[in-house]
Amino acid sequence: MSEIYKRTGMCGSFTAGNIGEKAVINGWVAKRRNLGGLVFCDIRDKTGIVQVVFDENVPKALFEKADSLRSEYVVGVKGTVRRRESVNPDIPTGDVEILAEDMVVYATSETPPIYVKDDDKVDDNLRLKYRYLDLRKPSMQQNLTFRHKVTKLTRDFFDAQGFTEVETPMLIKPTPEGARDYLVPSRVNPGSFYALPQSPQMFKQLLMVGGTDRYLQIVKCFRDEDLRADRQPEFTQIDMEMSFVDEEDIYALQEAYLKTLMKELLDVDIPTPFPRLTWQEAMDRFGSDKPDIRFGFELQRVNDLFEGCAFKVFSDNLAAGGDIRGICIDGGASLYTRKKIDKLTEMIRSYGARGMVWIKKTKDGITSSVNKFFSPEELAKVAERFHAGDDALILLVSDKTKVCWDALGFLRRHIAAEMGLLNDREFKFLWVVDFPVFEWSEEEGRYMAMHHPFTAPKEEDVDLLFSDPARARARAYDVVLNGVELGGGSIRIHDRDLQETMFRALGLSEKEIQEKFGFLVEAFKYGAPPHGGLAYGLDRLVMLLTGESSIREVIAFPKNQAAQCMVSGAPAAASDDDLAELGIRLLDSEKD
Ligand code: AMO
Repeated sequence: MSEIYKRTGMCGSFTAGNIGEKAVINGWVAKRRNLGGLVFCDIRDKTGIVQVVFDENVPKALFEKADSLRSEYVVGVKGTVRRRESVNPDIPTGDVEILAEDMVVYATSETPPIYVKDDDKVDDNLRLKYRYLDLRKPSMQQNLTFRHKVTKLTRDFFDAQGFTEVETPMLIKPTPEGARDYLVPSRVNPGSFYALPQSPQMFKQLLMVGGTDRYLQIVKCFRDEDLRADRQPEFTQIDMEMSFVDEEDIYALQEAYLKTLMKELLDVDIPTPFPRLTWQEAMDRFGSDKPDIRFGFELQRVNDLFEGCAFKVFSDNLAAGGDIRGICIDGGASLYTRKKIDKLTEMIRSYGARGMVWIKKTKDGITSSVNKFFSPEELAKVAERFHAGDDALILLVSDKTKVCWDALGFLRRHIAAEMGLLNDREFKFLWVVDFPVFEWSEEEGRYMAMHHPFTAPKEEDVDLLFSDPARARARAYDVVLNGVELGGGSIRIHDRDLQETMFRALGLSEKEIQEKFGFLVEAFKYGAPPHGGLAYGLDRLVMLLTGESSIREVIAFPKNQAAQCMVSGAPAAASDDDLAELGIRLLDSEKD
């Protein structure tokens, strides 16, 4: 067993202030080069890199050992800090180097399959397969450390506010969040399955009935849904619930929390209170329930300008109850050629849009893709409505309201990104409030709870639950940052009669209610306090604060696009014996 060197500092910590001091470090060899009589080694640990030099004064055996080092060998070095001859301004330790006096090699390494280097372009699946090497990159370690700081600050903040962290079970009955569950077979109850929690929703409400008053949990949640840059099948929530509160209490506390987080971790002052938009306003102005308000390009509804017009696409759509909505891009006329506009049109097809009309206003006048159908005066009226400047591109979508929202919501953000308007160091928080209670499900052919069935409707909208469900609003809110839904929650129903009404409005039978939520309904018979809460996506929060574009960069071992763990190979086939013990037989099509 070789001696374990007791280090005097981490690699990234050495500065000119340490010159002349003895230094002991441990780390990985990032790079070695032999310049005749000198061997230079960059040694890396999670804090960064420091240069070590072996010169002709070290014993021959040590010099040869240094010369035989390869990338990713694990070493300890003893030496003295001195000023570096050629300063490296790119790294914090760039003024100094450690003149080696002794070294231990703890472990050798085969040639690594990926370079441990930040700006290296490596295939994502390879990065995920060798995640332990990928994690050696200082940027990845910084992200993990940042994440740790977020959770620590979160626990401290809410602890000071009287919250208790409580663990809720992972093997449960299906949750009401609406995604697909991961099922876990029960060996001792053959034919029965647990679900992994999509969230601790029902348990945190039971904790309120149980008198916990203020609950917090930093908790893994599981949802079997399609992956995106900001979605993983297992992800982490900062989950909380409070008794005896209304929306204003929740907004004020969450704003104080986020303000503290931004100040302590990024030294950024964010103004509070956050702006609030109703869901309707968010959709009408931004075409999204998670609007990015760092830039303009707001949507406008311009049906009135085209009432009875000669262009059949527009007039037929209006007659069928559709909308004509649009956005105006300042600086867009010169930037967007016809070819580029065609590309945009192609892109919005995935939102169900069948087409797009463009109007360009420049100093030379107005032109459009529908010149045939409209006089210059008519087009000028449209430009006027959008307050178009002298280099403006107006894009109009004529379709069902939702298609207009989705297509234009996508376009405004896509174009802002193309124009370089998205500064990831600018943080624009807001609340989106008054979500609809219901959302129409094409798949199920009925209204479903947009949030979940325990979300309270607004008192003045209770009658609408049956008479005009589409218009009923909920006491639900989301906190949004730069176009990402950071968190969401609601004030819950604690009144049994109202809960029954809501279940009926959702078309749930008594049997379904008992099966799905019976235990919560039962608990509410015994004195449920008024309560409400919210949950943040921790991964999304850390992603936005670190300026990353995917939550995979802030999760130690994320899944790939196919929901697989590339390191361990999960999911994997189960053996016949394991399946037999669980009483499970696979369909022929599922076998190898
Ligand atoms: P909701 O379903 O809105 O609410 O989830 C809360 C937050 O969790 C994050 N999130 C995800 N992050 C990564 N990958 C995913 N697949 C994923 N799904 C959700 C989002 C989201 O805003 N029980 C309620 C909260 C409540 O009502 O208190 C809930 O789970 O950032």
